[in-house]
Formats: sequence, C-alpha cells, structure tokens
Amino acid sequence: MHNTVKISDKIFWIGENDRRTELFENMWPLPNGVSYNSYLIVDEKTALIDTLEYGSSDDYLDKIENLIGKDRSLDYLIINHMEPDHSGSIKMVVNKYPNVKLVGNIKTFKIIEAYFGFKDNWYQVEDGSELDLGYHKLKFVMTPWVHWPETMMTYDLTEKALFSGDAFGCFGTLDGGIFDDEIEFEDYYEQEMRRYYSNIVGKYSNMVQKAFKKLEGVDINCICPTHGPIWRADVNKVLGLYNKWSKYETEEGVVIIYGSMYGNTAKMADSIARKLSEKGIKKIRIYDASKTHLSYLINEIWRYKGVILGSCAYNSGMLPTMENLTRTLEHMGVKDHLLGLFGSYSWNGGGAKSLYRFQENVQWDLVSDPLDTKGIPDDEAFEKCEIIASAMVEKLKAKV
Ligand SMILES: [Fe+2]
Ligand SMILES: [Fe+2]
Repeated sequence: MHNTVKISDKIFWIGENDRRTELFENMWPLPNGVSYNSYLIVDEKTALIDTLEYGSSDDYLDKIENLIGKDRSLDYLIINHMEPDHSGSIKMVVNKYPNVKLVGNIKTFKIIEAYFGFKDNWYQVEDGSELDLGYHKLKFVMTPWVHWPETMMTYDLTEKALFSGDAFGCFGTLDGGIFDDEIEFEDYYEQEMRRYYSNIVGKYSNMVQKAFKKLEGVDINCICPTHGPIWRADVNKVLGLYNKWSKYETEEGVVIIYGSMYGNTAKMADSIARKLSEKGIKKIRIYDASKTHLSYLINEIWRYKGVILGSCAYNSGMLPTMENLTRTLEHMGVKDHLLGLFGSYSWNGGGAKSLYRFQENVQWDLVSDPLDTKGIPDDEAFEKCEIIASAMVEKLKAKV
C-alpha cells in the first residue's frame, strides 16, 4: 500500500520524506530532513498540485495512478513554484500523462521552457483566474517572490484550502503525523519552521507581507504548504508566525556570535553574556561562527532583538566565518536589530573595524561604541564589555 494521506474526500497528500539529502539547496543543513509535499485532487477532473524533487520517490507515479485509477488520465498539473524541489518530477509526470495541461502563469512557462523545453499544453492563469474541477473550484493568487518570481498559490473555494507553495513551509520530515493536530509543534517543528523561513524565504519578507495583504479576508480552513505539516486545526498559529517573522518582530533576548582564533574574542563574548545575565536577560545564546553553521546563526538572529558580534582581526579584516555571516545578513536585508560590536587583535586590527562597516551598511541600532582590544583582554577591556552589555539591556528594555 502506498503512503498517501487523505486530507478530505477528494484531496490527498502524496508527498515524500527526504532523510538522505545533507544540504537543502546544497547550502542549508538538514539534520531532521525535509518533506516535499505534493497534492492530488481526484474530482470530475483530476489535478496534481506541485510535484517532488527529482529522484526523491520511486513510487510517485504509482501513487497517482492508484488514486485516479488506471484508466483515467491526469487533467491538470498546477505549478505553484518552479524551484526544482517541486518541479523536479514534472518531466516524469508529463511523460506518463502527455496530454496533461500545465497550469501556471507567464513567468512559470518561461522557466518550464528553460528547464524542459515544453512549449505545448500550457494553461495560463492570472491573478484571480478560476478553474472548475467539478466539485472543487480553484482560484489562483499571484504571490511573486514567495519565493521565486513565478510563485503563486492555489485556493480551493469549495473547501477553503490554501495550497501555499513554500509559504508556511518548514524543515523536518513528517514522521507519522502530517497535520498540525498530530504533531508536537512547539517542541520540535517551530525551530525548524523559523530556520526554514529565515534561511529560504526571509530575504523576501516584504513580498510575504504583500501576499498577506492579498489573503486578507480570505476564509482559510486548511493550509497545505510544499514542506512540513498541513495546518487544519490552528491555521491562525502559522499565519501569525509568518506574519511576525516577515515584519522582523523579535523577542527580548541576545544572541552573541563571534569569530576567535586564540580565544581572546571568545573571552569577551562570555564576559558580555555574564553581564547581560546579571542585568536580567534570560535568553542569551553564544555561538562560535567557525563551528555553528550559518543557517542556525541566521535563525537565532531572526528570533532575538539583540545581536552582539565579535571578531578577531584576520589579514586586516574579520575572520572569514564572520565575514560570511555579515555578508549574508547584508544580502538578505535583515532589519531592525540592536547591535553591539567587539573584537581583538595582536598587531594592526581589522575585526572590529570591519564589523563597524557592516553596521554602516545594515544600519542596525548600534548600542555603544565598538570595543577593539589589543592582545589579551585586561580589566579595562572587561569594563568595556560591561558597557556594551549595559547599553544593550537599556535599549532592549526600552524597545520590547
Ligand atoms: Fe522555493
Ligand atoms: Fe520548496
């Protein structure tokens, strides 16, 4: 028996769990794997909504055939998103069902042609277009840049289900439970959802907000994303989280991230953290950027209002692991943080100076002057660590 799950009378989840791939987009670690969610509507007409990463499933076509029947064909393949983790099995589906109509927008078809050379059987939709499957009536909502330019969502007017593509997606496989009421969300998935949001979609937060405006007033009973759990019990929870993250709303707390070669910068990180703690901050996290993957650092920065960055000097600049982090944050356009900076050097400096240039680029609120220490931190350096901690706490308490 194939692993498919009935969502309602005529809608099925036919996704796949990937526990093999180490890095999503060959970049972001997947210690808990990821699911690729594909959906099938078996009505008077049959419609598949998004496919799977190429090679992730060897019985995908069997699942479809099993549900629609051997003698029936697939009428529509709705393509909400063309990134290969969802479009990777389109060719396979078209080979089996050569008359299937490919439902997408003008931008979808440009990518389809570039990927597969398909020029026929296009069924072009625009914002607000509808498609009648019999019992189910679908409506298409253009949501560009959530997460690529062609991305759209499909709303089932009949059962008020939103097929949302990457929006409301989450890292982590679906280990038995696939609905929000069957899983331990807070204890397990929430971290992975924020990490997915911040790593993959966060750069397009303003477009997520635009999508929210479009969905305002739409009655949603169920959200079916392309990764992670399906939401049917508490749709407002996931809507609230995505709304908060795309507005850069954060919690009271401080993440300290440093690059240190010989431990001097690390010592200052611990000193600042201790002072933060003495001043009443409970949520404090310290990470060594050379050890913890960027993916988790970005996730923590998306969570906490206070960010304190430190780097030793390295060839007159930052340690490359910190440079990678700060360059990525600039590129992602992360906004609205309180910032503290510190560093150390043995001869000419460069770490703290480079971090200051980062601050000029991102324009986060610098809580006090950067601290740059020559050699091993002494009492004076630790006093300055306290100044950074005090300034951070003062602003944090004033803002949150
Ligand atoms: Fe994507
Ligand atoms: Fe995706």
